[in-house]
Amino acid sequence: MSEKKRVAILISGRGSNMTALIQAAKNPDYPAKIVGVFSNRAAAPGLEYARTEGIPTATLAQSKFETRLDFESALTGILEDWHADFICLAGFMRILTPEFTTHWQGKAINIHPSLLPKYRGLDTHARAIASGETEHGCSVHFVTPGLDEGPVIAQARVPVAPGDTPDTLAARVLIEEHKLYPEALRMLASGEVALDVDQNVVRSLPA
Ligand code: GAR
Repeated sequence: MSEKKRVAILISGRGSNMTALIQAAKNPDYPAKIVGVFSNRAAAPGLEYARTEGIPTATLAQSKFETRLDFESALTGILEDWHADFICLAGFMRILTPEFTTHWQGKAINIHPSLLPKYRGLDTHARAIASGETEHGCSVHFVTPGLDEGPVIAQARVPVAPGDTPDTLAARVLIEEHKLYPEALRMLASGEVALDVDQNVVRSLPA
């Protein structure tokens, strides 16, 4: 296998998807290595888990910066210190500027709990139930300037059961998120998927 790609994970809270990525990357055959976890909230529970795994962590509070661009340029400095090839947003609840997303275009991916392009934004499970969906799920997509808008790499579907609440549905989707995200990162890090200059997802067979 060629050298493992260096991946930084951005979180804001619980970090269960981060945990799934860290676990997957322990496999010697996995094409990515997690080199750092960043949080915009110092109290994010996920940071503690990353530390117990011996992974470098960093936090910056946006409130300490005058502008969003200043915050993001400090963040890019951290990611460059870690020599990150790719970044994974895993429950990172900050809107990023077009400057940042353009800088990382093709190298940043996000997981979102809906079958995009349906239900961008928040409260996806409640909105799917309220709309009478029979199917819901999650998507991993390239990060582009629009919120939850970039081209989709992979999706997983779950049925919406009669009597589902947002919590029961979220729990069922989360099980799929934990499988989908490591698989999507594997595809990216191995070169099976990439983003071309026209923002189309290009797929190639494994070498
Ligand atoms: C996950 O369900 C993720 O899909 C969602 O936040 C949760 C984070 O959980 N992300 C978004 O809604 C992004 N728009 P985690 O911290 O346990 O991974």
